[in-house]
Amino acid sequence: MKYKATLLIFSFFHFFVSSSSAQTPVYLDASKDIEARVEDALSRMTLSEKIDVIHAQSKFSSPGVKRLGLPDFWTDDGPHGVRPDVLWDEWEQAGQTNDSCVAFPALTCLAASWHPQLSSMYGRALGEEALYRGKGMILGPGVNIYRTPLGGRNFEYMGEDPYLTSRMVVPYVQGLQSCGVASCVKHYCLNNDEEYRHQVNVIISDRALHEIYLPGFEAAVKEAGAWGIMGAYNLYKDEHNCHNQYTLSKILKHDWGFDGVVVSDWGGTHDLDQAVKNGLDMEFGTWTDGLTMGATNAYDMYFLSKGYQKAILEGKYTIKELDEKVRRVLRLFFRTTMNKQRPYGFLCSEEHYETARLVAGEGIVLLKNDRNVLPIQPEGKKILVVGENAIKMMTVGGGSSSLKAQHEISPLEGLMNNQIVKLSNCQIEYARGYVGDVSGNYNGVTTGQDLKDDRSPEELINEAVEKAKTADYVVIFGGLNKSDYQDCEGHDRKTMDLPYGQDKLISALAAVNKQTIYVNISGNAVSMPWRKQVPAIVQGWFLGSEAGIALADVLLGKTNPSGHLPFTWYESLSQVGAHSFGEAAFPGIWREGKKIIDEEYKEGIYVGYRWTDLKKLKPAFAFGHGLSYTTFKVSNLRSAFDETTDGNMTFKVDVTNTGDRPGADVVQLYISDVKCSVDRPVKELKAFQKVTLKPGETKTVTLSTDKRALSYWDEATGNWKAEPGEFIAWAGDSSDRLACKVKFTLK
Ligand code: BGC
Repeated sequence: MKYKATLLIFSFFHFFVSSSSAQTPVYLDASKDIEARVEDALSRMTLSEKIDVIHAQSKFSSPGVKRLGLPDFWTDDGPHGVRPDVLWDEWEQAGQTNDSCVAFPALTCLAASWHPQLSSMYGRALGEEALYRGKGMILGPGVNIYRTPLGGRNFEYMGEDPYLTSRMVVPYVQGLQSCGVASCVKHYCLNNDEEYRHQVNVIISDRALHEIYLPGFEAAVKEAGAWGIMGAYNLYKDEHNCHNQYTLSKILKHDWGFDGVVVSDWGGTHDLDQAVKNGLDMEFGTWTDGLTMGATNAYDMYFLSKGYQKAILEGKYTIKELDEKVRRVLRLFFRTTMNKQRPYGFLCSEEHYETARLVAGEGIVLLKNDRNVLPIQPEGKKILVVGENAIKMMTVGGGSSSLKAQHEISPLEGLMNNQIVKLSNCQIEYARGYVGDVSGNYNGVTTGQDLKDDRSPEELINEAVEKAKTADYVVIFGGLNKSDYQDCEGHDRKTMDLPYGQDKLISALAAVNKQTIYVNISGNAVSMPWRKQVPAIVQGWFLGSEAGIALADVLLGKTNPSGHLPFTWYESLSQVGAHSFGEAAFPGIWREGKKIIDEEYKEGIYVGYRWTDLKKLKPAFAFGHGLSYTTFKVSNLRSAFDETTDGNMTFKVDVTNTGDRPGADVVQLYISDVKCSVDRPVKELKAFQKVTLKPGETKTVTLSTDKRALSYWDEATGNWKAEPGEFIAWAGDSSDRLACKVKFTLK
């Protein structure tokens, strides 16, 4: 009897277990651990299925495993909005009607907000747009360091400082991935040039690599848990960064424990053996590279495709490397397309526009405001708006970040439709001033704008000057645009100067009107030879869909500006570290045979303010600079202890709004190592906080740092090292306005 009962229980148990596993295999069982699901799926896949998932099948997709119910994987640019769909095998538009998006401000603007919470909202909103569009991964954000103001893609990155970049990238990635959409952080690494980006081989000290160029990526991986990283086009240690033993296998995967996928930049894969062994997991975009130039549907000819499969079958490679790649791809599937908990997607929701406006409003930087020319007092006034950038759409162009925005409000439209303007008895006039680039097309997305104007530069300047003579205010919208050799992928700028004769126009206008305001639209610093003549200067970035609204709100005082520069605004290239060592340091020197350019980062760790501090140079506007319509005082920096053994320090500092309007200040904490066995920068940013204050209000801000903030990369041990001794912490609201300091000792 007893025996029978046991048998019955056993049979029942056996039936239950086997029937439940027959119904729900482990890899489909969401209650199971993701690693168990990965192993189960892997064990069911054929060699061909494994090969399929590690390379593209179209411009932006790779196959899933249909037989197992794993959907195809779709990815898309990135990083300022979800790129419109292109044809399966061409860069031209697919012609969808549901792929217009919200264009968010460029990442330079996001960084200029110094507002990590906004970065999280940005990532989340972008993730919702991606979900609606069926994308499992967004190719972004970009965290390459702003090494020179000539960098063509600086507008897609977060400035020159590794700490600021790190603090801003983490919430972006987390916000995006909270939607079950992977972030593919790019371009890993040392992709600081656009010109000859496939040929540049960067030579750099380990210290500069770790202290300046890697922290943004490291934070994205270790703190935010990014699910994807894009290998960069350029070379380092003579290997392309899409299959680089040192940066991918060693640093990223071994040292940082990255468990996501390494995706090649489009066409960045060059070698089967390296692609197999050096950390690449998914190959995209190889269409244009050396295989069959321009061949269509060449996906079988990818390095990680049929050739790889054949080599495995011939015994050249074991299945081990392949399985390692497939595991990562499966993990990506379970995190994204196979994640049933994902929220619903939304496209162009009011919340997304609100996020775009908020980021733009918090990122615009008031660089200069003599005589309080700003904000504009419009009542009864005539305002002359000048410049192509007042009317030109900026969301189209610039390379892969180009978008098809549902709408884009230009600066001129923003001013004309502003409520304060509408309620004032005020007149707005427009003069073109200069003609820049009148084209408006990127891969088949057209702006539809007709910007043609055949008048000569003299005629355009004369018209603007005549009108300026009788205007109460002149507001010039100039700067760069998204055309080649400006803020655009594929090339770097040739000079730091403003294009299209704008310097002449701006000087001429400033000479006849004392209330001239210059708004610079760009992702890069430009030289401003007329800087002293123009009383008010605003950095207006590329602000996306809501550009005009955000700019008008700042110019008219509805928004009190609170952006601070995420990079040093040099007077000229002679103040830039990268440009101080001849062509070997920038743009590099071709090797014999003209296949590789060696570019040696001779300035080392001295990038941005680290260089101007070292050389005691006074830039036009310092890193961290940003004015407000009110004034602030940062005072009384203190810490509870003047000694630390573990390097964890908490500082308190007071910040007071000493003016008469509400506003926000960015309190910045820099640290100097007083004495060290290696060279250290004069100071380095190690903490910050944005604080909103009513007039007269004082708040105490708490800023914390850890041992890493005191450390340098020790090349001898290949690790971070903090040397005991004396340090100084400085606080203020710009790298050149540090009102208070406190000393402390690391025991
Ligand atoms: C760019 C990447 C981009 C990719 C796909 C490449 O040319 O460097 O940033 O994500 O194209 O469009």
